[in-house]
Amino acid sequence: MQHFFQFRLAGFLFIALLFSSRNMAQSTQMSAQAPDNKAKIDELIKSMTLDEKIGQLSLFTSDWDKTGPSLNSNYKKLIRKGEVGAIFNAYTVDYVRDLQRIAVEDSRLKIPLIFGYDVIHGHRTIFPIPLGQACSWDLAAIEHAERIAAIEATAEGINWTFAPMVDIARDPRWGRVAEGAGEDTWLGCKIAAARVKGFQGGDLAADNTLIACVKHFAAYGAAQSGRDYNTVDMSQVSLYEWYLPPYKAAVDAGVGSVMTSFNEIAGVPSTCNKWLLTDLLRNDWKFNGFVVTDYTSINELMSHGVAGSIKEAAKISLNAGVDMDMQGSTYLNSLDSLLKEKQVSMARIDEAVKVVLEAKMKLGLFDDPYRYCNALRQEKEIMTTEALAAARKMVSESCVLLKNSKQTLPIPAGVKTIAVIGPLGDSKKDMLGNWSAAGNWEKCVTLYEGVRSRAGNNVEVLSENGCNVNDADRSGFEAAVKLAAKSDFIILALGENGWMSGEASSRTSIDLPGIQNELAEAIIKTGKPVAVVLFNGRPLAITRLNAMAPAILETWYGGTQAGNGIADVLFGDVNPSGKITMTFPRNEGQIPVFYNAKNTGRPYRASDPDAKYVSRYLDCSNDPLFPFGFGLSYTSFSYSGLAASVNGSQIQIAVKVANTGNIDGEEIVQLYVQDKVGSITRPVKELKGFQKVLLKKGETKSLSFTLTTDDLAFYHPDLKKFWEPGEFVIYVGTNSSETLTQSIQVN
Ligand code: GLC
Repeated sequence: MQHFFQFRLAGFLFIALLFSSRNMAQSTQMSAQAPDNKAKIDELIKSMTLDEKIGQLSLFTSDWDKTGPSLNSNYKKLIRKGEVGAIFNAYTVDYVRDLQRIAVEDSRLKIPLIFGYDVIHGHRTIFPIPLGQACSWDLAAIEHAERIAAIEATAEGINWTFAPMVDIARDPRWGRVAEGAGEDTWLGCKIAAARVKGFQGGDLAADNTLIACVKHFAAYGAAQSGRDYNTVDMSQVSLYEWYLPPYKAAVDAGVGSVMTSFNEIAGVPSTCNKWLLTDLLRNDWKFNGFVVTDYTSINELMSHGVAGSIKEAAKISLNAGVDMDMQGSTYLNSLDSLLKEKQVSMARIDEAVKVVLEAKMKLGLFDDPYRYCNALRQEKEIMTTEALAAARKMVSESCVLLKNSKQTLPIPAGVKTIAVIGPLGDSKKDMLGNWSAAGNWEKCVTLYEGVRSRAGNNVEVLSENGCNVNDADRSGFEAAVKLAAKSDFIILALGENGWMSGEASSRTSIDLPGIQNELAEAIIKTGKPVAVVLFNGRPLAITRLNAMAPAILETWYGGTQAGNGIADVLFGDVNPSGKITMTFPRNEGQIPVFYNAKNTGRPYRASDPDAKYVSRYLDCSNDPLFPFGFGLSYTSFSYSGLAASVNGSQIQIAVKVANTGNIDGEEIVQLYVQDKVGSITRPVKELKGFQKVLLKKGETKSLSFTLTTDDLAFYHPDLKKFWEPGEFVIYVGTNSSETLTQSIQVN
């Protein structure tokens, strides 16, 4: 026993000496690469046993029982042995402190744990789902939302989030479109960078910042048929042009970790793709953080059919560049024998351990392992007035007005009775959407509650479900129609359940589920003013609803403040300005349908609608129901005076935008460019800029954009990126279909 005690003491003193310089962790730009810190990590690695090294490469989940997170006893034993590097799904100060204490007091080398969690759109204060936030096009507000999420998550012990998800997706059958920024690469890059900055802040050692994790690397959103986890197969040019840039944007923004995706790309699963994880990510992009797998995705290499055993899977993953195994125990169970058999090298193991230890150093955990265990912060910094106000504002900014015939919205003054009808009118659980972390659905404001509170005491607000989200029970129709008949204004709350999007939630039919269209028809038939409020995690093919509904407001899943933020828009306190960042198809047959498509050799031309031998359908228009960038306002805007000029490598673009309506409003002015002739086919247009401008009623603003020839560059088959001189078309407008245009020659 004496020997053991001395050994432990020595270990403790060793760590204490190694990392105790308090000022080291508090320097603003403390970097794990600083020479003295690097040396300290090298020293620590030299002192580690093989088991302790492998432990740093293992990530395990806590479970959640009725009282809160609970880690299975075997994992606790492993922590005590120094054989776990990180835990996820564990939070609250007390629980994190208890686990951290085992690591830093009971283990031999006292290496602190990292605590990860899926903080995807808020921690306790839940913001709109990322696809909804993207529709705000408000990069500062998106960054601020992640800043608040980081403050709340770190106040509960978390210092690593598995976000941002930046997977470009063009197929709304895929449920995970809810977690991303939509179909556009250029906008996806801007949003990826904003989210990383919001999470990581300016100093990772601060106690209210955390390491972000860009995912799912790579091209997970291109799963064939929109079926989750399905095969991805595309040209390298497409991969580079459309799918890789947002991950690169996150790396350039300093993201501290990368998560591999479940899918393969052209036969090679990302989790064992050496070209992707080492040649591209580390060598080309100079990524210096650590790579974690998705949940048991190493084990799944056997199902992919690229590994005949778990041991083989562990070998090809480590050698490809995976540093940490999420929940698979494959490194824990195989690396020692793989090392003995010289299937992996100690150098590669040390490399992986180093980047994990560097992350812990950057977080200041060696200096103070309990840095994120501040009970006062947990008490004071969660669901603050400021956080709730920011969430409410983001709800309103995420709303997209898809239709507003006869100026149905905003709800007119003088209305005496409002009916909130539909299965999502008063559903707290559905307001959170998917991946709602530690969000408490009981604290969500429903649409009915938001309308009730905003309408005031002189207005009667009543509600009826009318039907369920996804079954054929019409028994509620009669009461709903009766309520509608005696109301002045009807709000129809329709859409998907919160769990019908997100992971493992692909749908082949993306119209309104169940009999909601029939309910809408019955209510609209009353002839009363009706505004539909949509709750959904993906673009829906609402062609039938759109044909009959006077007004449609897309609200996604607004989170904790959903009802209040939506009511602000419905009553006109906020003039909606959101624009969709993912195309709404007319039906599933059009999918994939997206704005930046190729022209083809036989393009359909509206000027020749009866042409037979062109790229078209016999039974449906080529145009989507709502195009990328679409969104209406309670006011109206007009565009004029587009002028583009070329001056060397600069392209100056000017345009005038006028608010021609009678209320103030924000407009997201979009700039697209088309490369008319290239050495390979080019898309009919690509987003290259936007400005979100407030225009008072009657006001006109002159806006200018500046592009350079770098903005015209594209990837060639040899994967070199450069621009080609020639004719370009400049498009500026209110969405990707309605624009002013001007051709220019750039040489
Ligand atoms: C899931 C998801 C991933 C998430 C991880 C941890 O399977 O694919 O996005 O971060 O597991 O919860």
